[in-house]
Amino acid sequence: MKYFAVILISLLLWGADPPRQPIAFSHKMHAGSLNLKCESCHINPAPGEMMTFPAEAKCMGCHQVIKKDSEDIQKLAKFFTEKKRVPWVRVYQVPTFVFWSHRTHMEGGNTCSECHGDVSSLEVMAKVKELSMGSCMDCHRQKKVSNDCTFCHDKAN
Ligand code: HEC
Ligand code: HEC
Ligand code: HEC
Ligand code: HEC
Ligand code: HEC
Repeated sequence: MKYFAVILISLLLWGADPPRQPIAFSHKMHAGSLNLKCESCHINPAPGEMMTFPAEAKCMGCHQVIKKDSEDIQKLAKFFTEKKRVPWVRVYQVPTFVFWSHRTHMEGGNTCSECHGDVSSLEVMAKVKELSMGSCMDCHRQKKVSNDCTFCHDKAN
């Protein structure tokens, strides 16, 4: 029984394991302690589907000076000088056959935390909220938004 519990707990922890990022970026530090606004890094350019990841130049604005001896900051600086994007591992993703836009959701008054949880408390970014078809529909039901199949999918689906 005891062993069963240990295995179960390990499986649960393993299931919730966040992906390992190329640089140990902390939202808790940047969005929490430093209180940087989400939109200062995630800018949602037209057409607005994506929130996008910040340009390396944005990070280097501070890290040219701050912690420049750190191993992670040196990795960051290398991407920057070689004009390469940091290959961040994606955490949230919907399949391409689903219609999705951040912009319309922001304009509709939804907040980041409704879909991504309390990000400013996360040391390591993890999928703390499910964004399955069921959870999309739950919120649409609550906010009286359409749940017709063709609202989120092509007729072909
Ligand atoms: C200083 C810049 C910065 C700030 C401020 C910031 N982020 Fe991020 N965000 C990043 C970087 C870099 C990543 C990629 C690394 C990671 O996942 O930790 C990321 C990843 C994410 C992801 C995961 C996306 C995916 O699918 O992989 C979400 C969600 C997110 N941020 C939401 C937020 C929210 C909400 C806030 C405000 C509370 C915020 N971020 C503030 C830089 C920032
Ligand atoms: C407004 C300034 C600012 C911006 C912009 C910023 N950071 Fe930071 N960052 C800091 C500060 C301050 C610390 C904490 C330094 C300390 O612990 O003394 C920090 C810490 C870090 C650390 C931990 C370094 C270590 O070894 O302890 C990493 C990694 C990091 N930042 C990556 C990033 C990345 C990637 C971006 C861009 C997405 C970014 N930062 C943008 C100010 C900033
Ligand atoms: C209604 C739910 C919802 C809200 C509100 C929301 N997101 Fe997202 N977010 C998602 C979904 C769904 C994805 C995956 C989208 C995909 O696969 O392209 C995602 C992906 C992301 C990504 C990575 C992919 C990308 O779009 O570049 C970032 C970064 C992100 N969100 C940040 C934010 C921030 C910051 C806010 C608030 C300003 C926010 N999100 C508000 C649902 C939401
Ligand atoms: C937190 C609540 C919430 C969640 C979660 C949510 N939505 Fe929505 N969604 C809304 C609201 C509110 C609107 C209406 C926005 C408006 O038009 O004012 C909307 C509108 C839409 C629209 C029509 C506008 C457009 O972008 O074309 C689509 C499509 C859509 N949602 C798809 C999704 C999908 C797919 C998911 C899950 C990945 C999802 N939504 C999750 C609240 C939510
Ligand atoms: C509010 C948005 C939304 C609505 C409305 C919606 N779906 Fe979905 N649907 C999704 C999302 C998001 C996924 C992807 C789920 C995932 O990857 O976990 C999905 C996935 C699917 C899949 C693929 C399932 C799989 O496992 O591959 C089918 C089939 C599907 N939907 C059919 C429908 C039908 C039929 C309706 C109408 C009754 C409908 N959907 C209404 C958002 C929606």
